[in-house]
Order: sequence, then structure tokens, then C-alpha cells
Amino acid sequence: MYYRQFEIYMLLKTINFYKMNTIKGFLIFGLLTFSTVCFAGEGMWLPQLLKALNEDEMQTMGMKLTAEQIYSVNQGSLKDAIVHFGGFCTGEVISNEGLVLTNHHCGYGQIQSHSSLDNNYLKKGFWAMKKEDELENPGLFVRFIERIDDVSDIILKGVTDDMTPEEVQSVVDKNLAAYRSTIEVGAFQELIVRPFYNGNQYFAFMTVSYPDVRLVGAPPESIGKFGADTDNWVFPRHTGDFSLFRIYAGPNNEPAEYSPENKPFVPKYSLPVSLDGVEEGDFTMIFGFPGRTTQYLPSVAVEQVVDVLDPAKIEIRDVALKIMDKYMRADEKVRIQYASKFARIANYWKKWIGEKSGLERSNAVDKKRMLEEEFEAKVKADPALWGQYGHLMKKFNEHYSQIEKYAYTRDYYNEVVGRNVEVLSTASVIGRLISQYESGDEASYNAFKDRVVPYLERVFKNYNKDIDREVFVALADLYRDNVEEQFIPTAFNVKGKSLEGYITDIYDRSALKDKDQLMAILGESPEEAVKKLKDDPVFILYRDWKEIYDEKVSAPYNKTKAEIDLLQKRYMRGLIDVFPERTFWPDANSTMRVTYGKVNGYEPRDAVYYMPVTYLDGVVEKYVPGDYEFDLDQKLIDLYEKKDYGQYADNSGRVPVCFIGSNHTTGGNSGSPAIDASGNLIGLNFDRVWEGTMSDIYYDPSICRNIMVDIRYVLFVIDKYAGAAHLINEMNLVHPKK
Ligand code: ARG
Ligand code: GLU
Repeated sequence: MYYRQFEIYMLLKTINFYKMNTIKGFLIFGLLTFSTVCFAGEGMWLPQLLKALNEDEMQTMGMKLTAEQIYSVNQGSLKDAIVHFGGFCTGEVISNEGLVLTNHHCGYGQIQSHSSLDNNYLKKGFWAMKKEDELENPGLFVRFIERIDDVSDIILKGVTDDMTPEEVQSVVDKNLAAYRSTIEVGAFQELIVRPFYNGNQYFAFMTVSYPDVRLVGAPPESIGKFGADTDNWVFPRHTGDFSLFRIYAGPNNEPAEYSPENKPFVPKYSLPVSLDGVEEGDFTMIFGFPGRTTQYLPSVAVEQVVDVLDPAKIEIRDVALKIMDKYMRADEKVRIQYASKFARIANYWKKWIGEKSGLERSNAVDKKRMLEEEFEAKVKADPALWGQYGHLMKKFNEHYSQIEKYAYTRDYYNEVVGRNVEVLSTASVIGRLISQYESGDEASYNAFKDRVVPYLERVFKNYNKDIDREVFVALADLYRDNVEEQFIPTAFNVKGKSLEGYITDIYDRSALKDKDQLMAILGESPEEAVKKLKDDPVFILYRDWKEIYDEKVSAPYNKTKAEIDLLQKRYMRGLIDVFPERTFWPDANSTMRVTYGKVNGYEPRDAVYYMPVTYLDGVVEKYVPGDYEFDLDQKLIDLYEKKDYGQYADNSGRVPVCFIGSNHTTGGNSGSPAIDASGNLIGLNFDRVWEGTMSDIYYDPSICRNIMVDIRYVLFVIDKYAGAAHLINEMNLVHPKK
């Protein structure tokens, strides 16, 4: 059934005749639109190309805006309300006083940093009742996009098909440096140049950042993180995943570092907020900064993800999470200490499980293989194409089989050494500190140490020796048993016997696990400190491990990866050349994108249909008093019981909480606005559904859905729950359906 729907989708999708020429950039040969039913959803499109590529389809799907209203170089447009929030999430401006809306999980670090046991804003929520109470966040910034230019001709000048990866890189680097030197970049501006279509095209983004961004409001976790890890990546969902910030600017509305004199920023554009919501079948659009997708991988690469890489990462995290969970359940203090760490590790663990099973269920590998067969047949039939794209699949197969053991070991190493065993992460930081010293520069040693000490303070604040030791033992055993012998540290070479004795011994003797011991060493003279650190038993293991990794894994991996990247660049160009009747979107790369679809339920399993909207009734249904994930605040229950919903209920008299749609999103789209057909804010993107998490690699329109929190729930919480009506008054509330 999935396959049939996919076929219909490919058939009915707007077909744009669109062809790429690597030298001249993009040329549009013509546009042709089917005005019949659309199942569109796939694609993360460039806002400046909507006019040429998507406007017709979007309007056919119900959009009432023009592409110019979404992205305009000359006048205020929707894009002027969209910010890259801290560089890792998206946010949107929703008032003329610089009020910014994003997810609770995007503001989590800030909310946590202002929290203490007495003032636990994570638990109780935070609301600034007047501007003076809004909280400063050092390091946080929001970034607007001022202008986007196609610079492909400049950056790719002199690049030819017969060059090696190193040659291409060196030409591109030179062109890039020359280009940068011609562009004037003001204070707080930054020129970001990124490759698109795997390096076939380049765009330059002139951006401006505002570094004074203050915390305005956040609901308690029982709303903002309701359902926590159990509900993460899952629908039906009932999370009010939002928080509010405000941009401040200098006297002339210009970007400025924090100062009490700064004033609320007046934006070029802010999003009107709709009280009318949307219904199944309505057009929706998501505007934001999706991080990374790999949609055009060859089948052999997807097979490797499904059979080799995802399973390895899942197993490692599974082991680590089980150990953490055991301790967290036994001790409340540990639970608090590990909540955020656990959530971070569990987030992608859970995503990979969903991704693997989604890729299998949707037969992604076979589908890709069929596309490749079609591609190869066309290439064979045309000598001009054959010259450029002949043997591509054969080369992919060879390279992917060559890289497999390195990619696998690399994932293993990154997960074990880089992520899940904290004392090894500490060893890695110490390793960098030692190299500062050994490069003969005491000043840079001291400067680095000044950054390392506060970093370690933060690590130790949430550190538990018993957990880390147990994870260390378990993951060392796993590594030794699952990674080829040539790649394992010398000390692990004890066949068939657990490393428990060895790891426990070095761990117990190491200073790296103990704050006081480690800080005492760092307090000594650089010479003394370095000498002691180099003799530390955990550090000795780490150094050996890293040396083997760098030489035997990382180096051959990088070499083959560079060749694969070049093949991928060629394949991408080939797809565009060979299938001129299809439209291809460039993989996400943390640049601004628009994705659009419709409010739409789906069938997760045989005979089950998920309706697209959840309600406050469902929040109360999930309520488990005292539970760490599903507890509720009495105030919310009271509002529910009194049906005190104000203007935030829908026609059925209920408050909508979350809804889903066929918008193609990924990590980084958190906090992105969901926008209706007329350009009004209707919700906030924050997740994807379990069955569709493979959409980073393969988008299946029948089951890939994004999850948004309904803006009326956000407003209800701000107004009725928090009593912060002054924030509502700042917004421009509209009734597009009346
Ligand atoms: N899955 C969402 C995303 O990828 C939400 C993650 C935050 N929530 C959590 N329970 N870890 O970022
Ligand atoms: N929660 C994700 C984020 O933080 C968005 C969900 C997704 O990956 O689609 O960006």
C-alpha cells in the first residue's frame, strides 16, 4: 500500500521542468502544473526559489500567499520574522516588541541555567510579568537572514570532473577566500556560504545576529515536556513544547551586546497569530532551519545504515541507557542529575530505532534500487550521459563496501569514547590541554585551562561515579567484542574475559573521575599537572585508543569518504540531468528552508487511523499523579474541569493541543512556525511521528508526519494558566476564517 501511494504521489506531484547546469547555475526551462489532487510533502525548499519551483503547487494546495510575500529581498516578508535560534533551533518573531516563540526543549538550557532548588523554573515554569524581569542569557543569539545569493559560478570556477577530491577542495577554498574578500561584512553580520546539491551549487547568506535575547516565559515541564521520553517521537502527542524570549537592541534598533539600556527590538515583520486553527486537509507551511538530511544516498548506503550503522549505535545506547535508568529509578537525586543527559541520549537512540524500522517497512532500499536501475538504463542509452555517469553505481558499491568497517568502528568509537563514557570525554579534553602545553606555549595552555575548569565544574555537577564506571565496563566489553581486533586498544586484548577487572582498576586509580583530585592537579604548575595527567591510567588508555583510531580508522575513513562525497556530487547532478521532468530539492544543511503540506492523519498500523488533532481532554486522560513524565499541575486540571478556555477553544468547545501534517521536517526545525494558507501562525513544530522518522533518508508521504503544538494551546497556557495576558496583548491576534 505504501508503494502505491508513493507512485500516485510521484505521478500527481507538480512537475517542474527544471534542469541544472553546473557552470551556469540553475536554469528554469519551464513550469508545468497539474491542478489535480496533491500529496506533496517531501522537500525542504529554498525560500528564494519558491517562485520558480513551488508557488504553483503551493497555491494549488490552497495557499493564498505569493512567493514574494514569503521571501522578498526588497520588502518585509515572512522570512523577516524567522530566526535561527542559537544556531540549533528555529524561532519566530510574534510581536512588534521582538517577542520570539520557540520550543521548550530549545530554551531548555537557558531555563535550566536560571533554575535553582529554590527557584526551579523547570518544575514550576517562569513568567516575567514585566520587561524588567526578563532574564539575560549570555551566549544566546538569534540570527536573521538578510539576503541569499547564488554564488555557484564564483565558487565552482575552475572545478572540473577529472579532479581529485583534494584538487576540488583546494580550488573551492581559494575561490571562497577570494569571494569573501570582496564582500563587506558589518558588525554582527556574518557571511555564510554553503554547498547545495552535494556541492553542485553554492549559496551565500548574509546574516545579522542579535546577542541580547532574554527569557520571557516558559511553562512547567509538566506542560512543556509532558510525556517526556515515553511520548518523544510519538503521536498521539500532548506536549505544550514552547517557550518565549525577547530580542533586545541598541538605541537605534541595531544589534547590541546585553545592556540594561537596550530596548525591545522592532522587527521588519512579525507573524500574525490565528485563533481559528486549521482542519484536516488544510494547507500548512513550516519555515525554519532544518539541520541535515541525506535523501539521495544510493541504496547501498541506506542498506549500510539499516543493517550495520543504526543497529550498532542503538545497541551501544541501549546498554548505556539501561544502566542510567536503573540508577535513576533508585535515587531521586540521580534522576534530577541525569534527566537532561538521559533525554539527550535517549532522543537519538529512539530516533534510530524508528528510522531503521521505517526504512525496512517502506522498503526504502528496494525503492532506491529501482530508481538506480532506471537511472542506469537511461545513462546506458545515451552516450553523452554515459561519459559522465557510467559506472556510478558500481563505484558506489565498491566504495561503500570499502568504507563499511571504518564507518562502523568510527560510530562505535564516537559513541563509546566521545559520548557515553564521561570519563573518556574528560580524557579527551585533558588530551587537548596537554597538547596546548606540548606545543610549547604556556599562555595558550593557561587560556585553554581557564575554559576547561568551568566546563569540568559543569560535568561534575551532574556526574555519578557508579554509573559512569558501570557504563565504562559495559561499553568496553561491547567494543572489544564487536570491533575488529586491529582497531581495539592494546590493553583490551584479553579474549573471552570481561574487561571489568581491568576497567575497574584503572577507573578507581584515575583522577579524571574525581572533581577534587582533578582540580587539585589542574591547580599545580603546568609542568607538574601535565606530568601527572599523562601518567593517569584512564588517560593512558584513552591516548592509546585514540592513536589507533586516528591512524587505522579515521584516516582511511576520511580518504574514502572524500571519494564518496565526490561520487555523490556526481550522482546528484546525474539525477537532475537524467530525470529533467522531476524536481529535486537540496538536502538540508542548516540553511533557511520552507516545507509545505497539509494537516493530515495517517495509518500507523493495519486498521488503525490516527486523527490529526489532540485535545486537552487527552492530556488529562494521560495524567498519572506524581509520575515523572505524566504528572500535571493542579491549576491546569482546574481550568480543564471548569472549561475555562476563554477564546482558545475550537468549534467543538475543546482546546486543541497538538496536530500533525505532511510537512517534511528534521532536527533544527524545532521551534519552526507552522503557518496557514494566509501567512498566520497556527502552531509550532517540535517533533515527528515514530513511523516516519526515516524521512531524513527516505520520505514516505503515507506515514511521514511532523508534530506541531497548536498555537491556541500556547495562548491558553500563557493567558489562562500563567496569567500573562500582557504578552497576548502584544501579539496581533487574527480570525482569518471569520
Ligand atoms: N524528538 C524531538 C527532537 O528531536 C524532541 C526532543 C526533546 N525531548 C526529549 N524528550 N528528549 O528534538
Ligand atoms: N525535535 C527536533 C528538533 O529539535 C525536531 C524534530 C525532528 O527531528 O523532526 O529539531
